[in-house]
Amino acid sequence: MKNIAIMGYGTIGSGVAEVLERNKEVIAKKAGDMVGVKYVLDLREFPGDPMEDKIVHDFSIIEKDPEVSMVIETMGGLNPAYPFVKASLKAGKHVATSNKALVAAYGTELLEIAREHHVNFFFEASVGGGIPIIRPIYTSLAGEEIEEITGILNGTTNFILTKMAKAGESFESALREAQALGYAERNPEADVEGHDTCRKIAILTAMATGHEVSYEHIYTEGITRITDVDFRYAEAMGTSVKLFGSSRIQGGNVHAFVAPVMIGKDHPLYSVDDVYNGILVKGNMLGTSMFYGSGAGKLPTASAVVADIVEALKAFDHHVEMGWDRENLTISPIDSFSF
Ligand code: HSE
Repeated sequence: MKNIAIMGYGTIGSGVAEVLERNKEVIAKKAGDMVGVKYVLDLREFPGDPMEDKIVHDFSIIEKDPEVSMVIETMGGLNPAYPFVKASLKAGKHVATSNKALVAAYGTELLEIAREHHVNFFFEASVGGGIPIIRPIYTSLAGEEIEEITGILNGTTNFILTKMAKAGESFESALREAQALGYAERNPEADVEGHDTCRKIAILTAMATGHEVSYEHIYTEGITRITDVDFRYAEAMGTSVKLFGSSRIQGGNVHAFVAPVMIGKDHPLYSVDDVYNGILVKGNMLGTSMFYGSGAGKLPTASAVVADIVEALKAFDHHVEMGWDRENLTISPIDSFSF
């Protein structure tokens, strides 16, 4: 039995516990051992919940327990996620996280610490919810020079845009619905102002190039200024309104942006609606591939976290190189994009 600890028992953390329980046989087979949740770190109590007896309020219990070989960070935000993840890696524990704010801000340092301590820092769930995208970019597309990545990378805003365009809903009521469904960030400003998409395109670009990308330098505009008039124009022109994150990689330069765009019916992302995400990746040999699926939500995102658990426990006593180095790429504003 391999013991793990889950930090943060919200939508994703409780989803991880559920996926581990419901799929325990298949997970044990693939990970080579049963996976047990030994602790759940949260400030709250959860009477009646299957994890009720595992709740702890003190991180040092997890940090000091040598039986915990892996820590799952699903708290979100930077504090205390950053110090807790750092301490977990330094204590020789593998870490998987769904937290793109953490990966975009501190990924370089956390990857270095993981390397030094011969453990793994995985973050498949940080981009595209349940869509396999981080590991495929690094491993399945390893023979490619990746030239461009363009995607609908935020489930909340795509859900809002779809409801506004197709059901005539207001921005506020669509956002409330997205929050009730567990799609939105704790502070939904990160979704609607484009910051979540910005962090995700930065992470994908870093995975594609093997170098650090400073997300702060990416031009970012969200969906809060879109009105009914925009949807009427879009409809009249036969287009749909989507929030794109895009980066074009040329040598040591990245041209990137996050902004709403109008796309025509012949565009592969035209029909990506509701909470779904779609990501186009263009390689110099392969051409363009599209990744599509549930971009947010409890079980799809938890499934991606569990995939990281299986990968880390399979590797168990060695470090798997997957990430980027400290060399920082120059980010320029986009001058043109081909998708
Ligand atoms: N708030 C994020 C989204 C969650 O809506 O896409 C998944 O990363």
